Amino acid sequence: MHGNLTLAKTQTSGRIKEFKLGDRLVKRMGYGAMQLAGPGVFGPPKNHAEALAVLREVIGQGVNHIDTSDFYGPHITNKLIHEALHPYHDDLTIVTKISCKRGAKGEWIPAFSTEELTQAVHDNLRNLELEVLDVVNLRCMFDVHHPAEGSIEAPLTVLAELQRKGLVRHIGLSNVTQTQIEQGRSMCEIACVQNYYNLAHRDDDAMIDKLALAGIAYVPFFPLGGFTPLQSSILTEVAQRLGSTPMQVALAWLLHRSPNILLIPGTASVNHLLENLAAGELELSAAIMAELDAIGT
Ligand SMILES: NC(=O)c1ccc[n+]([C@@H]2O[C@H](COP(=O)([O-])OP(=O)(O)OC[C@H]3O[C@@H](n4cnc5c(N)ncnc54)[C@H](OP(=O)(O)O)[C@@H]3O)[C@@H](O)[C@H]2O)c1
Repeated sequence: MHGNLTLAKTQTSGRIKEFKLGDRLVKRMGYGAMQLAGPGVFGPPKNHAEALAVLREVIGQGVNHIDTSDFYGPHITNKLIHEALHPYHDDLTIVTKISCKRGAKGEWIPAFSTEELTQAVHDNLRNLELEVLDVVNLRCMFDVHHPAEGSIEAPLTVLAELQRKGLVRHIGLSNVTQTQIEQGRSMCEIACVQNYYNLAHRDDDAMIDKLALAGIAYVPFFPLGGFTPLQSSILTEVAQRLGSTPMQVALAWLLHRSPNILLIPGTASVNHLLENLAAGELELSAAIMAELDAIGT
């Protein structure tokens, strides 16, 4: 199921703690840096010092997978990552995404041309001060907010060419349909897929299982509900019973859902970061998983 990979497991439960992302083995509990930019992921952070503290705590807690993009801010999030963490630990995998730019008022504008994609890779390299990007997700923008059909041949050809030039180590896809994943895999190696998925938003259930069989990481964005935090009486009640918080249970459910799921919960708060990382230790019984499954069905 996972190729030749040696997967680390928890001592107590046998639940897998790491999964491969390209040629790296990363911890399944990572960090999403989008929330570090200002309101609407636009402009400077509300609290610059706290943003740097969050990033340093991420590394201090042993997280080795950070998700970002140069269109967060724009440029702001990558510059914060650089300020807080450069030079980077050898162990750290930074994943970025391209194919979008921001308008003057923060609009999310598709940027799919050869020039725009190439520029985006160079912007990420410059602002992160890297010579090669670990993983670049091609973020599909046929519909800005949802996966929508459309050929990815042209933009993926551009990204694969940048990979051949040595600027990109691994390629991933984001906001994609199953058809686009198949098209992508017919063109080049796909290291990961990043789509909207959480306890209450389960459109990708079948896709996750297919990717698991292929040994490809699935990285859900909005694992906590994103701009509309998850709310469910079942979630609250289960959390109370376990002595945890609803957000911890939501993250633990994802970790239990499939071994190829890597988490990148976002926060601009050190306290929330620590709370989220602790969810990695939370064990959910089969009965509790079944109870939580009911939220999304
Ligand atoms: N590929 C894509 O199209 C795409 C789209 C969106 C996001 N992403 C990536 O996915 C990552 C995760 O998504 P996300 O950050 O948007 O959403 P998320 O992780 O689902 O939720 C983040 C929100 O939850 C709050 N939060 C975090 N931990 C909390 C806790 N323990 N208790 C209460 N509230 C908590 C945060 O506020 P506080 O800051 O106050 O903690 C923030 O408002 C992003 O950071 C980004 O890297 C990718």
